[in-house]
Amino acid sequence: MTLDAKPSIVFLHGFPFDSSMWREQVEFLGPRGYPAGAPELNRTVMTASGHAFSSPLRTMEHMARDVATLMDRSRIDRAVICGLSMGGYVAFEFMHLFPERVRGLVLAGTRAPADSEEEKAAREQQVQTMLHAGMVPISVATVPKLLAPKTISDQPDVVKQVRAMITSTHPVVAAAAQRGMAARRDYVDDLEKIDVPTLIIVGRDDPIRPVADSEFMQQRIRNSKLVIVEDAAHLTNMEQPELFNSSLMEFLNAFLP
Ligand code: MLT
Repeated sequence: MTLDAKPSIVFLHGFPFDSSMWREQVEFLGPRGYPAGAPELNRTVMTASGHAFSSPLRTMEHMARDVATLMDRSRIDRAVICGLSMGGYVAFEFMHLFPERVRGLVLAGTRAPADSEEEKAAREQQVQTMLHAGMVPISVATVPKLLAPKTISDQPDVVKQVRAMITSTHPVVAAAAQRGMAARRDYVDDLEKIDVPTLIIVGRDDPIRPVADSEFMQQRIRNSKLVIVEDAAHLTNMEQPELFNSSLMEFLNAFLP
C-alpha cells in the first residue's frame, strides 16, 4: 500500500445484528475508492443436524482477533476501524491488541465503561429469554429502543431489516456474544492512550448509549470529533445513512486525506 492510498475501512456490527447493517456505508465508500468491508463477528459452526454451535462465551477479544485474521487474509495492514455499539467494544479491544494496525477510529453509539453488576444480570436474563423463547421477544422489546420514533413511522424498510437481522441471529450465537459483552474489560483507561484521529457518532434519541456516553469519550480522546445525529436512536448509520456517510467522508477527508 502506498503512503497516499485511501485507507481501508473495516465496519464492525452491533448486537444482535450482522454485517448487513453496514450495507449503505460499504456501497457508499466503494465507488469513492475506499476499500471497505464488514466482517461477521458472530462466528457460527453448523453441525450436520443443523444446530448452531458457538462457544458459550464469545469475547470482544475473540472478535478482535478474528478481525485481525480477516485483515491478514485480505492483505490489509492498517485500517480505519468503525464499530457501532458492540462493534465499538471490539474496536477498543482491537486498538488495545493491535494499535499499529489502526489508522483511525469511528465509535458509533458505544461507550467505554464496563457493565455494572445490574447490567450483567440483565444481560444474563436476556440470554435466558433467547435460549428459551428465541429472538422474536428480543426483537419486540428492543426495536423501539434501537430506532427513533421518526424512523419507526417513516422508514418501514429499515424497521423490517432490523427485525430480520435480530430474528435471523441464532439464539446460541447471540447468547455467546451477550455473555462476551458482560465479561468485557473497562475501556475508560484506554481512552487517553488513543492517538489516532477518532470520530464519535451518536443518535440524539439513543436510549441505549445516550449522548453523555459519547461526550465522555470525546472529552478523553485527544484527537476526536463528536457528531450528534438528529432523528436517530441507536442505529444511526441505518436511520440516517446520508448524514452518517457525509460525516464519515468529512472525517476521512480532513484527517486521512
Ligand atoms: C449493541 O447494539 O451492540 C448493544 O446494544 C451493545 C450492548 O448491549 O452493550
